[in-house]
Amino acid sequence: MRLKGKSALITGSARGIGKAFAEAYAREGATVAIADIDIEAAEATAKAIGSAAYAIRLDVTDQASIEAAVKMVEVNAGGLDVLINNAAIFDLAPIVEITRASYEKLFAVNVAGTLFMLQAAARSMIARGKGGRIINMASQAGRRGEPLVAVYCATKAAVISLTQSAGLDLIKHRINVNGIAPGVVDSDMWDQVDALFAKYENRPKGEKKRLVGEGVPYGRMGKPEDLAGMAVFLASDEAEYIVAQTYNVDGGQWMS
Ligand SMILES: NC(=O)c1ccc[n+]([C@@H]2O[C@H](COP(=O)([O-])OP(=O)(O)OC[C@H]3O[C@@H](n4cnc5c(N)ncnc54)[C@H](O)[C@@H]3O)[C@@H](O)[C@H]2O)c1
Repeated sequence: MRLKGKSALITGSARGIGKAFAEAYAREGATVAIADIDIEAAEATAKAIGSAAYAIRLDVTDQASIEAAVKMVEVNAGGLDVLINNAAIFDLAPIVEITRASYEKLFAVNVAGTLFMLQAAARSMIARGKGGRIINMASQAGRRGEPLVAVYCATKAAVISLTQSAGLDLIKHRINVNGIAPGVVDSDMWDQVDALFAKYENRPKGEKKRLVGEGVPYGRMGKPEDLAGMAVFLASDEAEYIVAQTYNVDGGQWMS
């Protein structure tokens, strides 16, 4: 029960990695807002978790939606202790085929969504005066470029950078901002990644996913649950002195 009595909001937690975080947080004693643009899936996830979870409709690209979500957590749980900025979207294309629409959508969700969620959470935490924790989901994609993945990589590099700046700015309020950089994790997002690689690299469906899994030193792709230990740790008292870091949790992939 390392998060006993804590109130958390996890964006994009209706499925995938965010859902695994919500399950782990509830097991550790936290109350969790399952905040997702897909409200039906968020409600189903909250129901499956039980009384420790409740669903909120949230679009991280919409400022009014962000503010309403934070307000709802204040009303439902008496305040916000932990935000996980997990919602993100993916796209890929060769440089010469990137569209402005794809660029704008990815930056709106992955970067502006992260920044303005973080800002709203920080304002709420500062007003409450009890500090807090903010965890941003980066990616190994934010640590280097990839030929077909320029825009997504750039959004995740921006998340690592925002984590550094916000971490340094907010620690005076006892708000610790840190990040997690997964490698490859089996989720709906990776099914979409696989389908796009199949198209652009002319591969059979499923091949890219199999190959990247085999390439991980640990010997397989990550599962959403593999990330949950770090998310619990970063929200726990043990992580009090950790500021502005982004940790790889990737089965050794970045090191290889
Ligand atoms: N899957 C991977 O291999 C991998 C690797 C590195 C980093 N990540 C990062 O981990 C996080 C979770 O990834 P995942 O694989 O679980 O993704 P996913 O696509 O399975 O789930 C993302 C969730 O975000 C929600 N969402 C999308 N747009 C939203 C918006 N505007 N507002 C609110 N919610 C929105 C979706 O409805 C969905 O429930 C993301 O930040 C992703 O970039 C994933």
